[in-house]
Amino acid sequence: MNPAPNLVLVGPMGAGKSSIGRRLAGRCGLAFVDLDEEIERRTGASVATIFDCEGEAGFRARERAALEAVLAGDGLVLATGGGAVLDPGGRALMRRRGFVVHLHASVERQLARLARDRSRPLLAGNDREAVLHRLAGIREPLYREVADLHFDTGALAPTSAVARLGRLL
Ligand code: S3P
Repeated sequence: MNPAPNLVLVGPMGAGKSSIGRRLAGRCGLAFVDLDEEIERRTGASVATIFDCEGEAGFRARERAALEAVLAGDGLVLATGGGAVLDPGGRALMRRRGFVVHLHASVERQLARLARDRSRPLLAGNDREAVLHRLAGIREPLYREVADLHFDTGALAPTSAVARLGRLL
């Protein structure tokens, strides 16, 4: 289906990158990697702890290192974190080593999907809606720039999204 060595999913928190990516990998017989889980595995600490101890800059450095290590391999579906596109070098690497799919979700959908989530440091103790709108303003152009394909997850459940996405790849 896909001539690039890897399939890389980008998009905001709560767009469904991990749930869709995991199912898509299963359907295509590819390995699945979640970049946040990979960072946690390599660091031995949660994303929230890394933000607490090293700040966002420390997390981004670890995110870039993990991205490079993971994309050295082939045949993966990679779900990146919502901010992985902030780094121009990271974006170039994604394009060089993968077919990049932007999973779009409106702020309303993100809020609904993240309603019970307490693991995202950027949302902790903040006005979630305001934060997600602010991040979207900065990041949407970057998702658009880096992606080969744009897919709106809308109101789709992960299984339906995977079925539709599978037909586009
Ligand atoms: C972040 C998104 C998170 C995680 C970290 C920072 C962001 O990943 O990497 O909390 O900057 O948008 P998900 O997009 O998987 O939630």
